[in-house]
Amino acid sequence: MLSSDAAQKFNPARADEYRAQSRIALAGYDACHELAACMLAAVVGPGTSAHVLVVGAGGGAQEIITAGALEPAWRFTAVDPSQPMMDIAIAQLQQHSLLGRTDIHLGYVDDLPNVRHFAAATLIGVLHHLPGDAAKRHILHSIAARLMPGAPLILAGNRYAYADQPILLAAWGERWRMQKNTPDEVQAKLGNILQGADPPASEEAVAALLAAAGFERPTWFFSSLFWGACLAKRASNEGAPPSSVIDKDGGPEMGLPPSWRQ
Ligand SMILES: C[S@@+](CC[C@H](N)C(=O)[O-])C[C@H]1O[C@@H](n2cnc3c(N)ncnc32)[C@H](O)[C@@H]1O
Repeated sequence: MLSSDAAQKFNPARADEYRAQSRIALAGYDACHELAACMLAAVVGPGTSAHVLVVGAGGGAQEIITAGALEPAWRFTAVDPSQPMMDIAIAQLQQHSLLGRTDIHLGYVDDLPNVRHFAAATLIGVLHHLPGDAAKRHILHSIAARLMPGAPLILAGNRYAYADQPILLAAWGERWRMQKNTPDEVQAKLGNILQGADPPASEEAVAALLAAAGFERPTWFFSSLFWGACLAKRASNEGAPPSSVIDKDGGPEMGLPPSWRQ
């Protein structure tokens, strides 16, 4: 499966039920987003005017709604390749009067100018949908290339191979049974969620992916069954870019010091 197929999974039917289903699939969905905003403010500094890159913002733009309420001077760039998921995000941003503070990009991080422009970034609920380590490293590289040195990334998603954790998997099913789903409905929900997903095998595997993309060691701050959330800072070394793979459109950017170009 290509990473573009990861976006196709989020079709109109899945998008329609996303805001409700995500809060069942992830116990503590809202707490995770609230803590992610708190972690970013703790590192970027409260009361600042940061520009935050929100990758995979579709489905409700909860990252922007939560961080935007905490930090009234922050601006956002929302990136997502799925039209139905982005449509829901735009409607939510409108409802929360945040659309004026958000640049919408229907597409991929690679499409954005290759400049270290953002003071922070989030990648929530995306990485485990990307198949294989190469696609995971690529998106992390692309984000790193657009972050200022030392800027934080919130990375959240499932970790652990599902088949290696039968108790977590069974408990996940119980989560739907708790919502009055029948055994057949529980199996259908789990099948839908597991289809095409490829989580990193461990927190060490997540740390290795981050390190390969030029991030420092992560600080974990939230865990819920398979789900884990961490913050990792973009390494502030001003040396060579971590990989030429991110340099597909990287011509010289006028006005930036050479060490900020990639
Ligand atoms: C599970 S949803 C998470 C949405 C949101 N971040 C949240 O916390 O509720 C995953 C989103 O990632 C998007 N996505 C898939 N592949 C992507 C990619 N390569 N780059 C950016 N977003 C992607 C999907 O379209 C979908 O909207």
